[in-house]
Amino acid sequence: MNERWYSKAVVYCLDIDTFQDSDGDGVGDIRGLIGRLDYLARLGITCLWLHPIHPSPNRDDGYDATDFYNVDPRFGTLGDFTELVHEARNLGIRVIIDLVVNHVSNEHPWFQSARSSPDSPYRDWFVWSDEAPSDRRQGMVFPGEQDETWTYDRTAKAWFYHRFYDFQPDLNITNPQVREEIKKICSFWLQLGVSGFRMDAVPFIIERTEPGNPNPEKDFEFLSELRQHVQWRQGDALLLAEANVEPAELTDYFGGRLHMLFDFMLNARLMLALARQDPEPVIDALRDTPALPDGAQWATFLRNHDEVDLSRLTADQRADVFEAFGPDENMRLYDRGIRRRLAPMLGNDMRRIQLAYSLQFSLRGTPVLRYGEELGMGEDLSLDGRMAIRTPMQWSQAKNAGFSDGDSLVRPLVEGWETLNATVQRNDRQSLLSWFERMIHTLREAPEVGAGSCQHVDVQVPRGVLAHRAIDRTGSVLFLHNLTDTACEVDMSSLAADADHPVEVLSDEGYDPITEDLAKLALNGYGFRWIRLRREP
Ligand code: NOJ
Repeated sequence: MNERWYSKAVVYCLDIDTFQDSDGDGVGDIRGLIGRLDYLARLGITCLWLHPIHPSPNRDDGYDATDFYNVDPRFGTLGDFTELVHEARNLGIRVIIDLVVNHVSNEHPWFQSARSSPDSPYRDWFVWSDEAPSDRRQGMVFPGEQDETWTYDRTAKAWFYHRFYDFQPDLNITNPQVREEIKKICSFWLQLGVSGFRMDAVPFIIERTEPGNPNPEKDFEFLSELRQHVQWRQGDALLLAEANVEPAELTDYFGGRLHMLFDFMLNARLMLALARQDPEPVIDALRDTPALPDGAQWATFLRNHDEVDLSRLTADQRADVFEAFGPDENMRLYDRGIRRRLAPMLGNDMRRIQLAYSLQFSLRGTPVLRYGEELGMGEDLSLDGRMAIRTPMQWSQAKNAGFSDGDSLVRPLVEGWETLNATVQRNDRQSLLSWFERMIHTLREAPEVGAGSCQHVDVQVPRGVLAHRAIDRTGSVLFLHNLTDTACEVDMSSLAADADHPVEVLSDEGYDPITEDLAKLALNGYGFRWIRLRREP
């Protein structure tokens, strides 16, 4: 079966606080987002992934919740939230939310109670050690900003475990009450109409952490339990997981557990292919990724809200990507990544930006797009760490780029918004935004891309060219991408027998009409062509 909605979705992710402010306090809110749903509908996306929406001291941009059963009052109320879900549905857009249950904020009442006394009913909801654990300086996720994973709490008179920052104590997944609570949180939001969850930090959620053991066992059974639970509550609810693990471990997360996983390996290899102007890493990624069980799916992305994570590349490969896209130390983060948007990494060259997104959206899996990428928004490297790419959406030439009427904004706008904004691009057929609309609409007419099989067409092609096909019972589409600046000609005649009135459905620029023999297909420097070979009725 491949009719599952998420396999044909186009996902768009955003932070409510930087998207649209409706009340002039300088912080984006739910009512503001509701007013922009028409923009998202026109763009063609079908699923909205909201970064954390809960009340939070915001020391990790909301990934540190103090109440899982509410929305941050800066964003609005639960009533506003249900309006959002309803209005989005009317426009054919589902909403999924971030489920951040590996840890809570240290200001969460559960942790406050837990630390106050060994007899607290919440004591066992967290992971403690009476002695300093021998592995307390191992396993940090944010090197440079975090120097331990166990911290002594003087009130608790014990050490507590935190995989991330010391203000994010980990919940104890071995405690049945914690497992039940996580299920209850999911039920609550499903009841309010969400279509599923982007699960934060899944490999860490299921760790059976114990002091002195830096490599604890993982409790995959919990993922099966959770899947069962959400499916009973809502048959088509989605679990989309962040699990940036070794390729060999990936399949453990599928099969009756999670529906979709972000493809971090493909992400890094796409960046490498773009940096080297050589499709080989993408071909390797297509070959190496494990076959998925029925109903399982990859989520592809070029940029998300974090740094581009290059940790799974070899040192040489990483060095090439750093040199091309993060040449200054200030652009790099945690010794493994780049804290930039895609457009500036590609020199704001429209041809290369379109090539990159055409490639991502045409590969197997469900594409995920980060807000502002459709405009080619830039970053602000004067902001701390990952905040560089979490700046307000650029809507128009109006005050504060139309983001807010306020005088002080949640974060500064990136310079240049007067000319780089949605309104300017909406009125320009040659703009990146107009291209994204055309590309997404074309994709939605090509169901084989998300759900079908994706094959590298292994024939002789000029250097720097990738030829791949999406095939399904609905038909077949051929994609050509030229990762270099040099124009060339591609011979795809070996596919002619398989084609039935081939027709070009998207390309970077008007090429001569396709001939039935597919023998001489021109390709511009950084050019791309989507050619429908067949469409079954
Ligand atoms: C992964 C999220 O993507 C990141 O932004 C966050 O800081 C950590 N998880 C901790 O929740």
